Amino acid sequence: MITIKKAVFPVAGLGTRFLPATKAVAKEMLTIVDKPLIQYAAEEAEKAGIDTLIFVVGRTKNSIIDHFDKAYELESELALRNKDELLKIVQDTVPTGVSCVFVRQPEALGLGHAVLCAEAIVGNEPFAVILPDDLIDNEGDNCIQQMIAVYDKYKASVIGTQTIDISESDKYGMVAGPKIEERLSMVDEIIEKPAPAEAPSDQAIVGRYILTPAIFDILKTTVRGAGGEIQLTDGIAALRKREEVYAYSFEGKRYDCGSKIGYLEATVDFALKHEELADEFRQFLKQFNV
Ligand code: G1P
Repeated sequence: MITIKKAVFPVAGLGTRFLPATKAVAKEMLTIVDKPLIQYAAEEAEKAGIDTLIFVVGRTKNSIIDHFDKAYELESELALRNKDELLKIVQDTVPTGVSCVFVRQPEALGLGHAVLCAEAIVGNEPFAVILPDDLIDNEGDNCIQQMIAVYDKYKASVIGTQTIDISESDKYGMVAGPKIEERLSMVDEIIEKPAPAEAPSDQAIVGRYILTPAIFDILKTTVRGAGGEIQLTDGIAALRKREEVYAYSFEGKRYDCGSKIGYLEATVDFALKHEELADEFRQFLKQFNV
């Protein structure tokens, strides 16, 4: 039985780190080779058996809504020209049986607030949160699949983590706690973007969460924290006083596609794995003796 059926994608952020590219285009629509970031995130959820994709969007994110809508003109044009493969690519953006729901986050009040905006759709069941900026690539089970397996075993919230250089702790939510088993720890301490001297460990939160619905009531009273925003991390800190919360160091490579360097790294790695492009691109790269 699949226990996690819904995933929330908080996609209302302004994407200022990519201006001017993100002046008129949602940052989640930036492409890695030939697919927008948001689609990689949606596919990760779908592969994990999730059938309801909840996008928490801002006013300037209509391109995301369009991307997951039916494209009548394009589809009939491709059908007319017998471009079957392309037609399938367009139609597969939302596989059969998967629903997309769009919720507006009226003000950019932070990640915790964005997740709270999805409450009415999620209801009283555990759910996933996926931040599309964090692109995670893995040969075997994807990150959300791995985390659902942890949820199924412990029936508690799970946060995806990875080891970082402690000097970067002020870019992440940071966690610490005793080890339970390979890759899994309890969360005893959790803090949003601490200075390196205040970081409880070198374990950083990456944009993947499985949360119990108890988080919603907590987020309603969570006050503004780091950056003046309602932080999901602060909500989880309160949640862990009521319930156990686990940190799971997932298998897979994470690209921070909210940063230019992470975006470029993902582009090169994904191009080198791309069915049609890999050989030609590898040839092209040979000229750079860097
Ligand atoms: C958010 C979270 C942070 C987490 C990070 C992962 O921060 O608030 O805890 O470590 O995502 O990408 P943001 O990058 O949106 O500032």
